[in-house]
Amino acid sequence: MPHIVFEKKDLISTPSSKDGVDFQFIAQSYDFTKSNRKIEYRVATKYNNKEFLLTIKPKDENLMIKSDKVTRLSPVSLIKDSLNAYVKENSSRIIFSNTNSFKAEKEQKHKYLKDINYFVDEFETNKEIQIEIGFGSGRHLLHQAKSNPNIQFIGLEIHYPSIEQLLKQLEIQNITNVLVINYDARLFMEFIESNKVGKIFVHFPVPWDKKPHRRIYSNEFVNEAFRVLKVGGTLELRTDSRNYFDFCLELLTNLPKGKINIDINKDLEVSSKYEDRWKKQGKNIYDLTLTSLNEDKAIDLSFDFSFENSINLKDIISKIPEKAIIVNNYFVHIEELYTILGKENSGLIKVTMGNFDRPITKYILIQEGKASYYQGNPLPTSSNIDAHKNLKEILFK
Ligand SMILES: C[S@@+](CC[C@H](N)C(=O)[O-])C[C@H]1O[C@@H](n2cnc3c(N)ncnc32)[C@H](O)[C@@H]1O
Repeated sequence: MPHIVFEKKDLISTPSSKDGVDFQFIAQSYDFTKSNRKIEYRVATKYNNKEFLLTIKPKDENLMIKSDKVTRLSPVSLIKDSLNAYVKENSSRIIFSNTNSFKAEKEQKHKYLKDINYFVDEFETNKEIQIEIGFGSGRHLLHQAKSNPNIQFIGLEIHYPSIEQLLKQLEIQNITNVLVINYDARLFMEFIESNKVGKIFVHFPVPWDKKPHRRIYSNEFVNEAFRVLKVGGTLELRTDSRNYFDFCLELLTNLPKGKINIDINKDLEVSSKYEDRWKKQGKNIYDLTLTSLNEDKAIDLSFDFSFENSINLKDIISKIPEKAIIVNNYFVHIEELYTILGKENSGLIKVTMGNFDRPITKYILIQEGKASYYQGNPLPTSSNIDAHKNLKEILFK
């Protein structure tokens, strides 16, 4: 991680600029838990039209500057140039630095690899969507995409080497109807419009016999799958694990929706690596297909994450809970507070919140009584929305 240790001096004054890097303000930590934490600073920085924070903290009798983990952006040259610019502006003697070995990093993003913001803000298709969860080697997904050029496929994986392998194959085989995302499938469906999906394939998911909470299938997942499936659309589980099959069957039977179909040792047109392995071992392969029979309500991804105006930071400080607030499907934990130097009623609140499986950490910037999320709003997932409402309730009411 790029950082510079430099001789302690007064902080630079802000706003100021050096080598094209703007330093907008500096905020100092405020020990609201009264636990004698060492003072740290966050430097609000703007460079190449991107805003992020740098951290300054004591290092022995000197100071160290590095990027703030939560707001860090790529490429790393953004950070290295900003660290160099700060220390130069401060005219400080450098004790240690690893910010000069910069090799031009070419960020080659594949055109079919998308991030979650793309699915929230831009994704639109008139085609039927089909989704494969945990595509692994990608054999099944590639086969489906080649056989159904009029369908828009989305492949979800959390294992990056599998993603790279699939992207390579898309290029080699000139397949253009697959979008790929590195995202936890249990949380992805929230961003897909209702009644758009023809099929969701879940082939040989990890059974997680000892940690069932990590399984793809859960009440929430099946309900979301139902919502995105169009009438006649199917959620298709294929597994060698009798345990997992029984667990999913019970889940589906308890939901009074859809039609269930069961098969054993059915042959598909394409067999995955895992499937080959299990077949060689003489294991049974179970298929559990759920067909959606009803139209579902549309969802609204345009939740308003704004805060009320005329906020009083002193008031907020007195209301910060020392412990995390935990509610059924979400939590809110205020971790740190910073006050902006030289500015009345202005600060940064660092909060971790949302879903337990995919928490987010954000800064809330308060400037002259107005609050907003630094670097933009959280994703509009149901748990982020609930956490935001709760946060407003605790701090801003
Ligand atoms: C046992 S492999 C099966 C791969 C492939 N479907 C096949 O049949 O060969 C399970 C795959 O699911 C992926 N996976 C596990 N949990 C996931 C999650 N929450 N979201 C997306 N993918 C996941 C794993 O990385 C792994 O590649």
